[in-house]
Amino acid sequence: MTTEMQSHFDVLLAEDRRYRPRPEFTSEANVSDPTIYEKAAADPEAFWAEQARELEWFTPWETVLEWDRPWAKWFRGGRMNASYNCLDRHLGTRGAKRAIVWEGEFGEERTLTYRELHCEVCRFANVLKHLGLRVGDRVAIYMGMVPELPIAMLACARIGCPHSVVFGGFSPESLSDRINDAEARVLITQDGGFRRGSVVPLKQNADAALERSASIEHVVVLRRAGDRAPVKMCEGRDRWWHELIEGVEDECDAEPLDSEHMLYILYTSGTTGKPKGIVHTTAGYLLGTALTTKWVFDLKEDDVYWCTADIGWVTGHSYIVYGPLANGATCVMYEGAPDYPDKDRFWDLVARHQVTVLYTAPTSIRMFMKWGAEYPQRHDLSSLRLLGSVGEPINPEAWVWYNQHIGGGRCPIVDTWWQTETGMILITPLPGLTETVPGSATVPFPGISASIVDENGEEIEPGTAAGYLCINHPWPAMFRTIFRDPDRFVENYWARFPGRYFTGDGAKQLENGYFAIIGRVDDVLNVAGHRIGTWEVESALIDSGDVAEAAVVGMQHEIKGQGIAAFVTLKGDIEGTDSEQEKLRRHVAEKIGPIARPDQIIFAADLPKTRSAKIMRRLLRDIADGRVLGDTTTLADPAVVEQLKSQYEAQGKTE
Ligand code: WTA
Repeated sequence: MTTEMQSHFDVLLAEDRRYRPRPEFTSEANVSDPTIYEKAAADPEAFWAEQARELEWFTPWETVLEWDRPWAKWFRGGRMNASYNCLDRHLGTRGAKRAIVWEGEFGEERTLTYRELHCEVCRFANVLKHLGLRVGDRVAIYMGMVPELPIAMLACARIGCPHSVVFGGFSPESLSDRINDAEARVLITQDGGFRRGSVVPLKQNADAALERSASIEHVVVLRRAGDRAPVKMCEGRDRWWHELIEGVEDECDAEPLDSEHMLYILYTSGTTGKPKGIVHTTAGYLLGTALTTKWVFDLKEDDVYWCTADIGWVTGHSYIVYGPLANGATCVMYEGAPDYPDKDRFWDLVARHQVTVLYTAPTSIRMFMKWGAEYPQRHDLSSLRLLGSVGEPINPEAWVWYNQHIGGGRCPIVDTWWQTETGMILITPLPGLTETVPGSATVPFPGISASIVDENGEEIEPGTAAGYLCINHPWPAMFRTIFRDPDRFVENYWARFPGRYFTGDGAKQLENGYFAIIGRVDDVLNVAGHRIGTWEVESALIDSGDVAEAAVVGMQHEIKGQGIAAFVTLKGDIEGTDSEQEKLRRHVAEKIGPIARPDQIIFAADLPKTRSAKIMRRLLRDIADGRVLGDTTTLADPAVVEQLKSQYEAQGKTE
């Protein structure tokens, strides 16, 4: 950790930087009893069991938790269905309530009430059954932000088919890797999606992916872009969504599934090897997401809730689909970009739909800051009553701007820390109770126990040093394994600090016990809130054919939090020209997806290595961030790094 970072933490708790919940908020809040933390800590299982009774069960559970470390089984013996909990159980009281308020990038609107959503989900679930899917079969979904995406997910959940949603910004190759790992039988996609006015050719990408994916028997194609994205339908394999649902029954019983039935797989980047298929199961996941949605966002019956994430990431799974719908909430869903047609699009949406709760990412907030306060000022944002942040550390400047220019100084901000693996928010304020300080996600949610430990796994006292963030006990929405790779599950997460779940994050506890998250301590980058493994970018660079060796590190980035810096040694007589840089950037974007496009490419005759030929990334990070170089004594040839540094300063160009 840099000294800059240390002093940044020291000022976090300054008296003038504390935000106490307003009494008017607390008196109406879903949680206002501070003893909830002690009660939950005294008997976490009893706490979770009590909350689990709020869900609908077909068969009650026998045991709350079976913990055969690191294998957890929550609510064993119970049977339930996530789709039923998100839909059917609201029909009596909320049938006519809006479930999804969708807006397309071009301004078209579509509203689905709970009754209508139920109907659509049932019809599509019947379609999937007619295609021959059985409980346990995997379904890949590669779509943009259209209502049919949550419809498809809930249809899968209804019939017990785990879904694997692949972010629509991923390349054909990334899609096919994920399909193959999950051995999905059906792929659901759309002709094209819209982003900043242009078409994302989803079906075309899917066709390319399927050249390498043999497990897919059927492709269901939603028509969205029409003439703007002509598609070739493959006879016997591809069918149109609208044709398939025609005349199909709009009732479909929800399968009574075991609590531990796999609800979905979501792939995320790790430090080595291919992306990991994070496995979430039914009951515990639904409990964790439903409860945190209700408590952290203080969700009320008449709230209009908007989470701006893409459903292709875990935030969308947990806090657009399962958590909010399990609570019977009205959710805004937006298809496109925040600056289309202009930079005030989000604020226009907030005002028109009277959004009350907004959940977004620090990267977006920093971008809004850069665009200027005049954009939010064009609109009446007085409907907002609570703001959330997720995905990366939020710097205090962005927090304060968010509070002032979006929240009008009156909305509590919940900075929520969690991960694809955790499924649910784990470290967060409760808005009616917790005093917040910009830059800290504050405290673990009731029933959750977290610690910072040192190299040896010893707990570090609050207010002293930074260390590794660990979770000490199982929690209901925890991932259960890595799909088909239980050894990696154990090794990656549970082996380093025996007895604890290791998050891969560095953090520090402030003097008052609050957690301040520093960021990843492994070779995973967090670029604009998206996880990318350095090795993924490195192998994409090598794959270009021009690169002999590559080392990728994160660099500080004003907007994205972290950017990608690639140090590259080219093969033989290939020259490090501007056009070569561009070629490599393009190759990485095509291979993985545009999010992985390097910000900086630095051509180097040699990379700094130890005498045992290990690349010293620590030094590359120092160079990328313009810091004084750390210890170079273990290098085989210390001149290499000095040369690289001066070369970087002279040549390094940010896009
Ligand atoms: C980071 C996204 C600081 C962290 C939900 C974590 C955060 C990774 C925060 C998980 C936060 C997420 N403050 N850092 N509030 N929220 N992170 O799996 O490094 O895409 O390990 O899940 O994002 O990213 P993932």
